[in-house]
Amino acid sequence: MYKNFENVTILEHPLIKHKISMLRDKNTGTNEFRSLVEEIAMLMGYEALRDLPTEDVEIETPIEKCMTPMIEGRKLAVVPILRAGLGMVGGILALTPSAKVGHIGLCRNEETHEPEEYYCKLPTPIDERVIVVTDPMLATGGSAVAAVNFIKQHGGKKIKFMSIIAAPEGIDRLMAAHPDIQLYIGQLDRCLNDDAYICPGLGDAGDRIFGTK
Ligand code: PRP
Ligand code: URA
Repeated sequence: MYKNFENVTILEHPLIKHKISMLRDKNTGTNEFRSLVEEIAMLMGYEALRDLPTEDVEIETPIEKCMTPMIEGRKLAVVPILRAGLGMVGGILALTPSAKVGHIGLCRNEETHEPEEYYCKLPTPIDERVIVVTDPMLATGGSAVAAVNFIKQHGGKKIKFMSIIAAPEGIDRLMAAHPDIQLYIGQLDRCLNDDAYICPGLGDAGDRIFGTK
């Protein structure tokens, strides 16, 4: 739990901490950065999906038939916030290969730091799915709030939001706007700087994943 927000989980696993430290290093190149983002997403997904509903199905073992629990992957939607959230999708799909994937295209305006929308498409029916929104960085929280607004406007209800690094400002803004979602954070950082970048952070996640500047 973080502050009084019961739905905020800060993951404390040493493997996640170690890999986030490697991400932060400015000498970590694009290829390694991309792999680390995917691995961290998978480790975070293991925790974030621990309450996924299962249904009993009949399986025949070499010994006998039995009813045994399985996850209904078709009831899950992974929704990355473009661009950087794309880097986390493979890690979640490695756990739940039959999940559907939506996209929300948002880009922060460099002066106002507020998000501008450029593309959105969600799998249907979205209201019946557990929705995992991915974005490695939760800075001011503007992009996260806009993404969850969009999903709710389209009927989404059960929303889990996964961020690798978050600033306190972003958590406060997101949870004030959407106290009903479940938020999973890999590491809580200190604050934002004057350009609304997370400190110490890792720089621009999208640029580091895709090798742009
Ligand atoms: C980054 C990041 C988040 C957003 C976080 O995306 O991936 O989506 O900023 O900042 P916020 O919490 O202040 O809204 P950016 O807008 O740089 O786009 P990109 O992923 O295409 O680089
Ligand atoms: N977006 C990023 O990619 N990094 C930050 O530190 C803040 C927003």
